[in-house]
Amino acid sequence: MLTGRRIVLGVSGGVAAYKAAYLARRLMEAGAKVRCVLTDAATEFVGAQTFAAITGEYPVVGFFDEADVSPHTTLGQWADAMIIAPATAATMAKLASGLSDNVLIGTALAAEAPLVVAPAMHTEMWSKPATQRNIAEIVADGAIVVGPAVGPLAGGDVGQGRMVEPEAIVAAVAAALTRELDGWRVLVTAGGTREAIDPVRYIGNRSSGKMGNAIAVEAASRGADVVLVTSAPPPAMAGVSVISVETAQEMAEATWAQAGDCDVAVMAAAVADFRPKNPEAAKLRRNEGLPAIDLEPTPDVLAGVAAMEPRPFLVGFAAETGSLDGALRKATSKDIDLLVGNDVAKTGSGFATDTNEVTVYTPDGSAETWPLLTKREVASRLWDRIIASYDRG
Ligand code: PMT
Repeated sequence: MLTGRRIVLGVSGGVAAYKAAYLARRLMEAGAKVRCVLTDAATEFVGAQTFAAITGEYPVVGFFDEADVSPHTTLGQWADAMIIAPATAATMAKLASGLSDNVLIGTALAAEAPLVVAPAMHTEMWSKPATQRNIAEIVADGAIVVGPAVGPLAGGDVGQGRMVEPEAIVAAVAAALTRELDGWRVLVTAGGTREAIDPVRYIGNRSSGKMGNAIAVEAASRGADVVLVTSAPPPAMAGVSVISVETAQEMAEATWAQAGDCDVAVMAAAVADFRPKNPEAAKLRRNEGLPAIDLEPTPDVLAGVAAMEPRPFLVGFAAETGSLDGALRKATSKDIDLLVGNDVAKTGSGFATDTNEVTVYTPDGSAETWPLLTKREVASRLWDRIIASYDRG
């Protein structure tokens, strides 16, 4: 899978550093040549000698204790790809701001190669606004972020923050090197639409755009040219161009204008099914009594794409509560290629969460349920599934 590829493995100082030794082994088994760069803190968890024994090369640990006068540029230029695993909160902060006060960050800055980052930290640290800002910057700068996963953490805690398993990192670096969506044009819809009742109020829903954003970012990190039609705050990422919309009508017009040029369309947006027929021009007043609001149907964005000839490979979503029977019905009746069903009433799934548990249906009714994953992991599996199912010709 990685035969002859030169991988720099950067290890920063967290307890998951022990898994980095196993990762180095898996990279070697996949045929890669591996060189490691460790922060001082990483050596508190795993000795440099361990990485030397696994890779056959003594790791770089400092700027100044090497025979090489410029170890970071030598390593950076050597790399076909770089991995930082585990990436601690401190390492991510330095990476986000380009603060190269250790040789790991110096190498990351000197490298032109794809960068895969596997965060690992406690849930509280992961969810802090500062960490989320840093991760957003890192993604915007083009890095591929895998995880963190939900599971046991240091000290017996459980939550999101666990470094993904080495096999997932090997797969991510292999995908980054093949950039299997190079040349693909992809459309993603995200967010919840807002349908005006009056200039102040609207009919809306709880969609945050996180699921659609993850799908867009994952596609761009695999090399796709992505158009994201969204009513939610978009990710800033190279390869993702954003069309901001508010209503179902605007989402329909933007989507239909773009879809004809796309290989794949993934419709993760929560589009209103009904809108007020005659939105008021002025704010409704309480003292004028209860308003009667007539509703009319909105355009079915997905159906419009399904009716195109030719049309992109089409992936729909279904937000259900309690049972996924409705998702199965949509999968078999909507003339689409895949349907992702989620129970939005289930804890950890659906609206505004960082995780999701989904079942993927094909039009013949067959179904595959995935465990609770981060939305980015759902996006990654979904793209694997799309690539396996879509014959691009
Ligand atoms: O954004 P997040 O907070 O991360 O939440 C993610 C999510 C719960 C919104 C997402 O996972 C999801 O389920 N999206 C689909 C929501 C939805 O509208 O489901 P639906 O079953 O009502 O619609 C079925 C499909 O038809 C969807 O692909 C939808 O985009 C599409 N649709 C619906 C109505 C309409 N007028 N036009 C459409 O295209």
